[in-house]
Amino acid sequence: MKMVVANWKMHMSGAESERFFKDLMKEVTPGGVEVVIAPSNFALYSLSKIKQWQFSLAAQNFYHMDYGAYTGETAVRQLVGVADYALVGHSERRQYFRETNKDTRRKVAAALSVGVKPILCVGETAMERENKETDDVVRDQLLAGLADVTPTQLKDVVIAYEPRWAISTAKNVGVCTPEDARSALTFIRQQLKELYGKTARVLYGGSVKSDNIVSYLKKGEADGALVGGASLQLKEFGDIIEATKAVR
Ligand code: PGA
Repeated sequence: MKMVVANWKMHMSGAESERFFKDLMKEVTPGGVEVVIAPSNFALYSLSKIKQWQFSLAAQNFYHMDYGAYTGETAVRQLVGVADYALVGHSERRQYFRETNKDTRRKVAAALSVGVKPILCVGETAMERENKETDDVVRDQLLAGLADVTPTQLKDVVIAYEPRWAISTAKNVGVCTPEDARSALTFIRQQLKELYGKTARVLYGGSVKSDNIVSYLKKGEADGALVGGASLQLKEFGDIIEATKAVR
């Protein structure tokens, strides 16, 4: 089944998130695609009932430690029973909050240890792409993030390839064609096969919309998409879900 992850970033209050979801239910019929909503951590509880409609929830961020004196953080254990998934190493975390490959390694391992499935985000900057470093950067991010992941655990890991220069809010945003996406996704699957003898679900993210998602799934061979800006627009997001359902 294809997967669509809505990354709401730092938008919407708890009440607004609930209202959005209620309205979304009028646009779509549940099932046929795995839809994961990643609201602000603050709104996770408000949305916990969405699971009865076969939607899943993801945290956008957490700290790898169990409970402790870490003011302002969300412990990985606090996600248990609330979030099914958690984003790890999103480019905005790497860029604005200086998250490193060492952090993503700890977070992936911590999430798996409590039964939360990590969605490890990887992707190069515009400059790295210009310098033809895409493969090296993606390989480093993958190897580091997955360093403690066993072959048995791989089935619970999702990889999201998000070229930073194609994220809709990036400066001078560029277009990652489905062909570009496919070559990065193929590279990621090859790396996983070398490491584990098998692959994991690999998503594409970066300016995904209802009018291009099918090409990323078909031509790009993505197992799904990580959607930012377009997931905040009700009709648009509903159309993304319905378009994804039609792709088998
Ligand atoms: P975008 O964001 O869909 O707005 O490009 C994707 C993301 O940052 O996850």
